[in-house]
Amino acid sequence: MSDKIYTPPASAVEGAHVSGMAAYEALCKEAESDYTGYWARLARELLTWKQPFTQVLNDSQAPFFKWFEDGRLNASYNCLDRHVEAGRGDRVALIFEADDGNVTRVTYSELLAKTCQLANALRARGVNKGDRVVIYMPMSVEGVVAMQACARIGATHSVVFGGFSAQSLRDRVQDAGAVLVLTADEQARGGKSLPLKSIVDEALADNSCPTIRQVIVYRRTGGKVGWVDGRDQWLHEALADQPTTCEPEWVEAEHPLFLLYTSGSTGKPKGVQHSTGGYLLHAALTTKWTFDLKDSDIFWCTADIGWVTGHTYITYGPLALGGTEVVFEGIPTYPDAGRFWQMIQKHKVTIFYTAPTAIRSLIKAAETHDAVHPKHYDLSSLRILGSVGEPINPAAWEWYHQHVGGGRCPIVDTFWQTETGGHMITPLPGATPLVPGSCTLPFPGIAAAIVDETGHDVPNGQGGILVVKKPWPSMIRTIYGDPERFKKSYYPPELKGYYLAGDGAIRDEKTGYFTITGRIDDVLNVSGHRMGTMEIESALVSCTELVAEAAVVGRPDDTTGEAICAFVVLKRPRPTGDEAKAIAKQLRDWVAKEIGPIAKPKDIRFGDNLPKTRSGKIMRRLLRSVAKGETVTQDTSTLENPAILEQLGQAY
Ligand code: WT7
Repeated sequence: MSDKIYTPPASAVEGAHVSGMAAYEALCKEAESDYTGYWARLARELLTWKQPFTQVLNDSQAPFFKWFEDGRLNASYNCLDRHVEAGRGDRVALIFEADDGNVTRVTYSELLAKTCQLANALRARGVNKGDRVVIYMPMSVEGVVAMQACARIGATHSVVFGGFSAQSLRDRVQDAGAVLVLTADEQARGGKSLPLKSIVDEALADNSCPTIRQVIVYRRTGGKVGWVDGRDQWLHEALADQPTTCEPEWVEAEHPLFLLYTSGSTGKPKGVQHSTGGYLLHAALTTKWTFDLKDSDIFWCTADIGWVTGHTYITYGPLALGGTEVVFEGIPTYPDAGRFWQMIQKHKVTIFYTAPTAIRSLIKAAETHDAVHPKHYDLSSLRILGSVGEPINPAAWEWYHQHVGGGRCPIVDTFWQTETGGHMITPLPGATPLVPGSCTLPFPGIAAAIVDETGHDVPNGQGGILVVKKPWPSMIRTIYGDPERFKKSYYPPELKGYYLAGDGAIRDEKTGYFTITGRIDDVLNVSGHRMGTMEIESALVSCTELVAEAAVVGRPDDTTGEAICAFVVLKRPRPTGDEAKAIAKQLRDWVAKEIGPIAKPKDIRFGDNLPKTRSGKIMRRLLRSVAKGETVTQDTSTLENPAILEQLGQAY
């Protein structure tokens, strides 16, 4: 955290939804003095209910909390119909920019019609309320429509990021017991066509997912695809005869809107289950307050709909507010690393939300190739910048502030998680004085705190475990199919009923500002993507032909935040030189196939065995030092075979 303070400029304070620190404090006070009354007021103000709720919070089965239990609503109605009914149907909802720069504008009326058509097509195929639908689609209007259409009929969507492998997709389809997959022939990214449909085919092969009845395929590139008659159907054919109106399914507030799989410290990815009412409330509320979204804004969140950021800040939050947003198919470096700046200029983006990894790689690009430096673009439309997914280092923050924001745009460094549904600790742009590297203060109503292992508060200036002391509307409801794992992961008995985020944090002694110090479990954050070390280890050892044993740790990386380092013992003599390089490549490809390219280890180190204590425990702390390239100062006297430290010194 830096010691500089940036107070919001008058232009950001004036007219903001939360204007000035006094307004922020008043909201916090309201939440403190009447917690359920506060959330009830906002749920009534921000959402349209078919049947108003009378109960706010039911904590009788804690930690399985229920919010707005007897209320009924529909998320898609809230995101689409109500704006059209209010005479705002001609407003642009989505400005879609394809990989090749082609732009399509979709109004609220059009988005509603498309959503209704697909919702009807899904219903016609027997998809009912509560059924799970897997969405494995590129960034597209159709991807947003797919999510909205599921929400409309009360089907629970589970979006799988298009970078995940067939094996990962299969695991998720099986775990969710999905009845239908929505996909595309291919995705266009960076001038290349990448397969989607063939990966679905592989995932579903050999009747491995018997719950799947149908696969609907959006034709994006026109590339060649395999076809299973009776199972596969083109999206445009499925939509052809469908009416453009569709009565929404009015679901109870607790009805699961979606599952989203994310990595934990142990075992396979967990299906984080979110509600409809509480989730949508926080999606709308945080979009309104954290981004100060107004009718005049052009909002752009660069995340993929495969991650929670894309759910909350593309598909649900901005649309619930009737906003106008950019949806981008491509990548930040194509046709060159000026793409983001060029798009901000072209679409007059006013609010821009991206990840520190992207910023750091674009800094590097601008430093080596001046033409893609943001100073060559007109970014004067920008008024608010956002950061998400990992800590933003003060140097990247300063660059973002100065070169992208022209020194005038507040940066909201938003801390949250797949499990929290929306922002938890974040500045509000018209109120909070900013300190680079700090996510500042809790969102009004979020009881974030730092405690020790026994759940007792630690004083400011002393690091500890980040918890949330009270349930909040958009919190995870359960892990799909595994309520015990939900309890164990997030509500360990020693923490007195507090939600355990899994991050360490520290509050500044004077200001009370929060800084996230990183995960306290075996979860890595690589380019803002969450990866379990155990997951990567299992993927490596599943290469039974080659691998005898593997251990995975993270090390700091200038661009990606953390990098994956694998320590591997082979079933053959330890390789060196070119042979080691070739095997390292083979193992990376293997991991890409098992999980996805994002899980490829950056460094692979081979040893005759792994450093273990005499009692047989892998010395992970020592591995972390080795991974960082530090000289090992730790006591290695308990090490079974000290000679291997030298072998592990070489990374491939
Ligand atoms: C983990 C959650 C939140 C949407 C994208 C990631 C880290 C997230 C920040 C931030 C420092 C952050 C935490 C958290 N994280 N935002 N602003 N500052 N760390 O969601 O995949 O569920 O990952 O990302 O470690 O626990 P996710």
